Formats: sequence, C-alpha cells, structure tokens
Amino acid sequence: METPQSQPARRAVNAQALIDNEWSVTEVVRQAMANTESPRLRTVMAALVTHLHDFLREVRPTDEEFELGLEFIAGLGHATHATNNEVVLAADVLGLSTLVTTMNNSTKDGRTPGALLGPFYRANAPRYGCGDCVVQDDAPGLPLFVSGTVRATDGSPLAGAMVEVWQASPVGLYDNQDPKQPDRNLRGAFHTNADGGYHFRTVRPAGYPVPTGGPVGKLLAAQNRHPYRPAHIHFIVAAPGFRTLVTQVFADDSDILETDVTFGVHRQLVGAFRRVETGLSPWGGLPAPFYTLAFDFTLEPGAQTFPKPPID
Ligand code: BEZ
Ligand code: FE
Repeated sequence: METPQSQPARRAVNAQALIDNEWSVTEVVRQAMANTESPRLRTVMAALVTHLHDFLREVRPTDEEFELGLEFIAGLGHATHATNNEVVLAADVLGLSTLVTTMNNSTKDGRTPGALLGPFYRANAPRYGCGDCVVQDDAPGLPLFVSGTVRATDGSPLAGAMVEVWQASPVGLYDNQDPKQPDRNLRGAFHTNADGGYHFRTVRPAGYPVPTGGPVGKLLAAQNRHPYRPAHIHFIVAAPGFRTLVTQVFADDSDILETDVTFGVHRQLVGAFRRVETGLSPWGGLPAPFYTLAFDFTLEPGAQTFPKPPID
C-alpha cells in the first residue's frame, strides 16, 4: 500500500515467497497454509498439495487438458442429487473408497474384512425372527438360505448380535430403485441366538451396474471398463462392546469378481453359494432347487456405532 507522502514506502518483500520456477510454487503454497490452526488439517492439506503438484509435474497437462480435468470435477457436482452421489461414485470407481475401507478395517486376529456401505443402505429395515424370509414379493428367482455364526476375535460366540442385511433382487435392483418391489423388500434385521447363530431365507441376488449417466459413466467407457458389481449381500453386524462391521459377501460363481467396478471383492468376502438340486431346504421344508450360503463373522472389541443411511 502507498503512503500519502510523495515517496511511496518500499514494502519489504519476502523473496522466499515469490515464484522462480515450477518447484517453488509448491513451497510457496505450503508456506501460505502453514498457519492452519488445526494440526490435522495442516498435515492433510500440506500432503495433498505436495502430491497434487507432483502429479501435475509428472503428467504435465496442457492448459486444455487441465480445463478438461476441472470440468470433470465440476461435472461430478452437477450430477449429484438426492438419489445419486457422483462424487462418491468417482471415489468408488477409482478405488479410493475401497482403499480407505481396507486401511480402516484390519483383518488382524481373524476379524472379518469390511466393505463399502454403498448408496442403497436404508434405515428402518424390518425386524425378523431367526429363519424368517426377507422376500416380500413373488418375483421369480431361486431361494437362498443364509446361515452362520457371529464370534468375537477370542472365538467366543456373540449371542444377541444384530445382523442386518440388504441386497438387490434377481434382476439387480434394490427396492428403492424398482417401483415393482414392496417397500423394504430384501432388507431385514435379525438377532443371533444363544450360540451366536443367525439364519434367514432370501432370494439369490444378481449383480448390477452403477449409474452410468454422468461423468463417471463416460470415464468408465473411455477406460473400456464395464460398470457392474458382482452379486452380493450387504451385512451390518453389531453388538455392544464390539466395533460394528459393515461388509458385503459376494457370490463365488460370479464371473466378474475380479473386475468389480468398485474393487470391493476382498478375498475373504467371497462366499460359497451352493446350488442344491435335490432334497429339502435346511429349514422350512422347501423342495430343491435352492441355494445355500454359510458365512461366519468375527468382530473386534470396540465401540458399537451405526452408519448414517445415505438415502431414505
Ligand atoms: C453397493 O454395493 O451397493 C455399491 C457400492 C458402491 C457403488 C455402487 C453400489
Ligand atoms: Fe450393493
């Protein structure tokens, strides 16, 4: 700023904070953020800027390419609305969501791996008793009998644990995507018995595509990637005194396990979907054909929490 005198005062310039070359930009930006009060925000933003600048120095975008990249990011916002979060979808198809989930869910001591909550989790699942069926319509599809035990990492069975499930239908649609399905079809909450056991009947789910109408769909097409997730069932397993497990179990006979568009298929989350051609179901007296799935869960001690539903 100039003083009212005839001679403008010379302002002391911090020569360290001026740009000399492409490397000094990074240091100057880091200095500009150095007074951030929150230590965590300071660390995260310094690392983010350093890695983004290194990325740009590596790929050396033209001005047009840089604009295109910014348009892609703005497009994620424009394609985000009440029933589609394109920003989360971008994180999913770039493997960011699965990386964070994998980092935050250790498999130490035999803990079951975590998996994405996904955009289709809804609150207020119907409460069912052991062995009940979560199918509320008579749409075609082979019955699936699911059973297993919930244990702690010390091997003890957890009685009274909550096992909540949700899944897509045999045509690959969740209830809230499909006006033909009753509300909260293929969703249910159960409690384990005195031996930590749970069991329920459902219908075999199908795989399904993630939304492809926005910029993420265009990116997948440009990368020659299909937009499908393999058939899976979502689980939340929770008990007081244990860290809540959010996970998914995948059908072992799916032919796209290795190419899940969201990279969600942890090796230990592939479940044995056994097709049974003769005899009666393990409970309920239903004649074959049907499928069975046996899958156990192991929880680590910790705080019981409940995830926030991304949609109604
Ligand atoms: C899901 O598992 O429901 C899901 C996860 C990420 C993106 C789309 C769907
Ligand atoms: Fe899903």
